[in-house]
Amino acid sequence: MATLRYLGHACFILEQQGTSILFDPFLTGNPLAPSLPELKPTLILVTHGHGDHLGDALDIAKRSGAPILTMVELASYCASKGAKATGANYGGKVAFDFGWVKLVPAWHTSSVPEGVYVGNPCGFVVNFFGKTFYHPGDTCVFEDMKLIAELTPIDVAYLPVGDFYTMGTDEAVKAVQLLQPKIVIPGHYGTFPVLVPNANDFRQSVERATTAQCVVLKPGETYNM
Ligand code: NI
Ligand code: MN
Repeated sequence: MATLRYLGHACFILEQQGTSILFDPFLTGNPLAPSLPELKPTLILVTHGHGDHLGDALDIAKRSGAPILTMVELASYCASKGAKATGANYGGKVAFDFGWVKLVPAWHTSSVPEGVYVGNPCGFVVNFFGKTFYHPGDTCVFEDMKLIAELTPIDVAYLPVGDFYTMGTDEAVKAVQLLQPKIVIPGHYGTFPVLVPNANDFRQSVERATTAQCVVLKPGETYNM
């Protein structure tokens, strides 16, 4: 069975049978990140260059040897810093033993902490041993989410709900209606003072306005897919 572990903010680990995918590993400097043993992922997916997403990706990639998969411009940046990195682009599927990863659009920006712009941000649709997980990065809601889910029905979707830098509750509920995932897991809240402190409004609105099940994970908690 695949497990999805939430590490706070937009960071998740998807794991099964010794294969693990690490998403947006913002751990150092994240006040909500649980203390963890050294991570040894199989693959690292990074949605964009902002410090709360690129995070520790370069360090973990260099230490573990795991490749980073992201948009071409950010992949070039990661490679220039000594990490193994693969660059792809919107609509492209990258095949793996576990299934595939597809890069999808995200409405956001993508500069790295040193101020260089590194192309466009992305989201990921992952087919992981037959289950599908959607990580949209830091996007606002957009109507093509419906198309993303039409092409690949989504079992579990993470959505940012913290407002200010991403969707807030109202937009995220609209995203659930467009995506129609079986399970939705909120994140990107409570990390910084400008963000919504908790996912209570989101959970209540999802239960009222959609057929999806909302699973709220505390950092460190795991959902069995
Ligand atoms: Ni961002
Ligand atoms: Mn962010």
